[in-house]
Amino acid sequence: MKKKVDEFKKEREHLNEIVMKYAKKHIKRFYNLDTNVYLDGALPRKIKELLGLVSSLVLRCDDCIEYHLITSHENGVTSAEIEEALSIGLIVGGSIVIPHLRRAFEIWDELEEKKMKELLEEIESILNSSKEKDKKLKSVCEFLKTNVEHYDWVGFYIVNSTENELILGPFVGEETEHVKIKFGEGICGQAAERENLFIVQDVSKESNYLSCSPKVKSEIVVPIFKNEKVIGELDIDSHKTEPFTQWDEEFLSKVCEMVGQIL
Ligand code: SME
Repeated sequence: MKKKVDEFKKEREHLNEIVMKYAKKHIKRFYNLDTNVYLDGALPRKIKELLGLVSSLVLRCDDCIEYHLITSHENGVTSAEIEEALSIGLIVGGSIVIPHLRRAFEIWDELEEKKMKELLEEIESILNSSKEKDKKLKSVCEFLKTNVEHYDWVGFYIVNSTENELILGPFVGEETEHVKIKFGEGICGQAAERENLFIVQDVSKESNYLSCSPKVKSEIVVPIFKNEKVIGELDIDSHKTEPFTQWDEEFLSKVCEMVGQIL
């Protein structure tokens, strides 16, 4: 993979050092203002970065777009949020911004790929640790909830094959009454029956759904396989509508593959 983001950061830093060699008060003041205007205020930092991104897209400044993509990523902006912000830039700027939009998604993809690789490495080290099985699973839940902005409830269900049901295992988030779920019931039970990943981007549109909390807006369930049989599931609720992308499918499938090896 091209090291576009790292090269960009290095070059930006290097050029700023040269600017500062010559800069006197006016340039320095402007630089200061440029930093301060994006700090948390009436608007949170992350929204300000998205405003910077949208204006940069409309003005078609690739360097500015890349900078705001990096800072948005560092401030926990999700892919779904980036897509919506960029779509506003596209509407305002029109088709002439499309080449810049392509490059923007290429950079975002690089940031997301790098994040996936780093998260998977951490999960691997949790799973390889000497902790007992349930403690490892709990740590994976904690790690996922802390590190992925749109994951608000993360838990494992373990299959009880004699009863065709799912039993709640380690989880983080609000307590749930759904400690036992029959195959076919709710999103979890349907995923177990179909032996397939199941995403519901808006739970209000799913009739076969077991609600844990009114705060939950969407859910993703990923089966865990061992010897080609479903032995458990990773269940994630989000307080956002339509937050899941292909990234979540790929990432969580890899997580479940790794978890399957320790169960
Ligand atoms: N909503 C799930 C039940 C489990 S809770 O989300 C923790 C379902 O419909 O299967």
